[in-house]
Amino acid sequence: MDFKIAVIPGDGIGPDIVREALKVLDKVASCYGHHFSYETLLAGGVAIDETGAPLPEETLEKAKAADSVLLGAVGGPKWDDVPSAIRPEKALLGLRGGLGLFCNLRPAMLFPQLASACPLKPSMVEGGLDIMVVRELTGGIYFGKRERTADSAYDVMAYSKEEVRRIAVKAFDIAMKRNRKLTSVDKANILETSRLWRATVDEVAKNYPEVALNHLYVDNAAMQLVRNPKQFDVIVTENMFGDILSDEASMVTGSIGMLPSASLRGDSFGMYEPIHGSAPDIAGQDKANPLATILSVAMMLRYSFSLPAEADAIEKAVSDTLDQGIRTADIMSEGCTLVGTAAMGDAVAANVR
Ligand code: IPM
Ligand code: MG
Repeated sequence: MDFKIAVIPGDGIGPDIVREALKVLDKVASCYGHHFSYETLLAGGVAIDETGAPLPEETLEKAKAADSVLLGAVGGPKWDDVPSAIRPEKALLGLRGGLGLFCNLRPAMLFPQLASACPLKPSMVEGGLDIMVVRELTGGIYFGKRERTADSAYDVMAYSKEEVRRIAVKAFDIAMKRNRKLTSVDKANILETSRLWRATVDEVAKNYPEVALNHLYVDNAAMQLVRNPKQFDVIVTENMFGDILSDEASMVTGSIGMLPSASLRGDSFGMYEPIHGSAPDIAGQDKANPLATILSVAMMLRYSFSLPAEADAIEKAVSDTLDQGIRTADIMSEGCTLVGTAAMGDAVAANVR
């Protein structure tokens, strides 16, 4: 089959890791008889440098016309002092909002080969960790009205019932395909948006009698994630709580350089990116770990292109590469072989069967 992928390498290590992900995709194409075409687009700091805007109109239009988007990373200290309206992060929000990607999936899993990197006691993660954080991505305080005067400021958090309903449906659907356990996180003891959230999630729950649903306040959820992460299967929460909890969940696995993400909407279109940042300090030095981006491409094959066997093949290739003891610096441990970004991409591509 033919697929058109908009490729946005972005800043810092973005181009380094995206290159390796495309290498792996090309191997999948030749093994399975598909054709992927790539169109490279500008966004983030590089776009500010070249066009003055973090998300050029052309990028958004061409992304809309593609079957899916692969994004590396955006931002870096070079653009820390630009006005807030044109910060590189605006490119991300513009893509999420402009493409309508309301459903953000952030799996936090422990790779058994990297278990020693987990900061928790081994007894607490016995048998592995596999949490799916479902973050609402186009509403709430990220997209509300905001204003700043000389000595005051506000940011509005607003949700419509429909915005909550559609993300809840996604989360229940995912829970049905996993262990049928869903935790909805809010601050319903304080926030009106959270009371709407909780009532709406309860309503949606009536259609999913097989899913065990519980509600947690966000402060408690943050605590439970380090106290007993194994109690979680799928977590669904609003935009900012999801931003914070997904960072926490990823760190709990100790594999932050390994974790992919997908941003989806109602149809098959999606945007895929590693959850880590642009690591400008090691950009262009063949040091970055491309595995999170490679695993993001696996999510693309699964969620946007309905190619589960090909997605499995990439995930298996990553696991086999770890089994071979091949490691980039960030996941290096004794007795393993240290490689650079390109060699890691080569190894995974070679392992795709
Ligand atoms: C993330 C990031 C972004 C967010 C920033 C860079 C805008 O932290 O994807 O989690 O806050 O959503
Ligand atoms: Mg974040």
